[in-house]
Order: sequence, then C-alpha cells, then structure tokens
Amino acid sequence: MNDNIYVYLSSLTGNTEKLAKGVLEKLSRKNGPFSLHDNEFLTSSEGIGELVILFFWCRRGNLDYNSQMFLEHCKNKKIIAVGTMGGYPQSEYGNKVKKAVFQSISENNICMGVFMSQGKIDIQRTEYRKKLPPEHPHFLDEKGIRRHEESRKHPDEADIECASSFLENRISEYAAAREAVCMDGEPCIQCGMCN
Ligand SMILES: Cc1cc2nc3c(=O)[nH]c(=O)nc-3n(C[C@H](O)[C@H](O)[C@H](O)COP(=O)(O)O)c2cc1C
Repeated sequence: MNDNIYVYLSSLTGNTEKLAKGVLEKLSRKNGPFSLHDNEFLTSSEGIGELVILFFWCRRGNLDYNSQMFLEHCKNKKIIAVGTMGGYPQSEYGNKVKKAVFQSISENNICMGVFMSQGKIDIQRTEYRKKLPPEHPHFLDEKGIRRHEESRKHPDEADIECASSFLENRISEYAAAREAVCMDGEPCIQCGMCN
C-alpha cells in the first residue's frame, strides 16, 4: 500500500472518477494499491502525507468546491493535480485553467504539475446554451457545439494512459528527490517507494 501518497478525488458527474479509477488501476499494478479518499469531507489534516494526488474537476476556470475545501487542510504538501474539464485542455483556455489551478495550489503548497483531460459536458447544458440569444456570452456557436460533442467522448482510454504516465513521472521525480537527501549511502528508508 502506498501509505505515504494521499489520493483525494472530487467528481460530480463521474468523469473524474472514471479517470482516477482507470489511472490508479494502472499505477497500482506497478506501485501497489492506493487508498482513495472519494469526495470525503475532511475536518482535519490528519493522515494526509507529504505527497498528495488531487483528482479534481474544473468549475468556473479553477478547482471545484470540494477540492478547494480539501486544500484548506493541506499546508506545505507536494501536490500533483489531475483534472477534467469541458473545454479543450490543449488550448489557450486550457492553459489558463492549468495556470489558475497551479496558482491556487501553490498558495500554501508545492504544486508538482497539473494535468487536464477533457470530460463530457451534460447534454442538457449543451441544449440550453444552443437556445440562448446569439448575443449572450454563453451562446454556443457551431465551434462550441463541436467542442461539446467532442467532450462526450472523454475521458477515454488514451486520456487515462496519458494521465497515468504523467503521474508515474511525477511520482518518480518525488521518489528520486527523497532518495537524493539520504546522506549515508544506503537506499532511502523514508520514501517507502524504493522497496
Ligand atoms: C457548475 C459547472 C461549472 C463548470 N465550469 C466549467 C468551466 O469553467 N470550464 C470548463 O472547461 N468546464 C466546466 N465545466 C465542465 C466540467 O468541468 C466537466 O464536465 C468535468 O469533466 C466534470 O467532472 P465530473 O464528471 O468528475 O464532475 C463545468 C461543469 C459544471 C457542472
């Protein structure tokens, strides 16, 4: 069990849950099982180790509410963030969201990276926005409709694969940094990931 890695999941409609469970299934084959704190409401920071994996969804261009509440209990942690969003992650808007999340986490912690996957947008939301007057800021034009349609294919296997390698790299970086501080020439006995 990866006791020193605390995994928090916030998911409203299931996209982030699908991504998180797919990723953890892959990672646990190599690193052993992870215990998942699924939409838990915390009242203290007890039990949160030094390394945190935060699975979140994007709400209004930043972290969702549960994830923000979770962060209230994190101070000086190393946090790797993996999220889903309705927009395209590889776009100017996607970069803006990643930057906003990075900044929110970095207020009291060390953010070790933000990975975003697209996640399906509720069809009712698409229909509602299509019916708005064209001058409304939320009116969906043809390009927007295509983006919403594309979102409904995600997260898919390729997203899960990309998120897994992102996390694997970041966890290795963390483990290597922990090993580097061992002064006695022996393998690291602190990080728990070198056995
Ligand atoms: C209230 C609300 C606000 C949202 N705000 C954004 C947003 O600002 N930008 C974006 O790209 N997607 C936004 N979305 C879409 C979600 O981020 C996306 O569907 C995500 O995959 C939901 O994850 P979940 O299924 O794990 O809850 C929003 C969705 C909801 C319900």
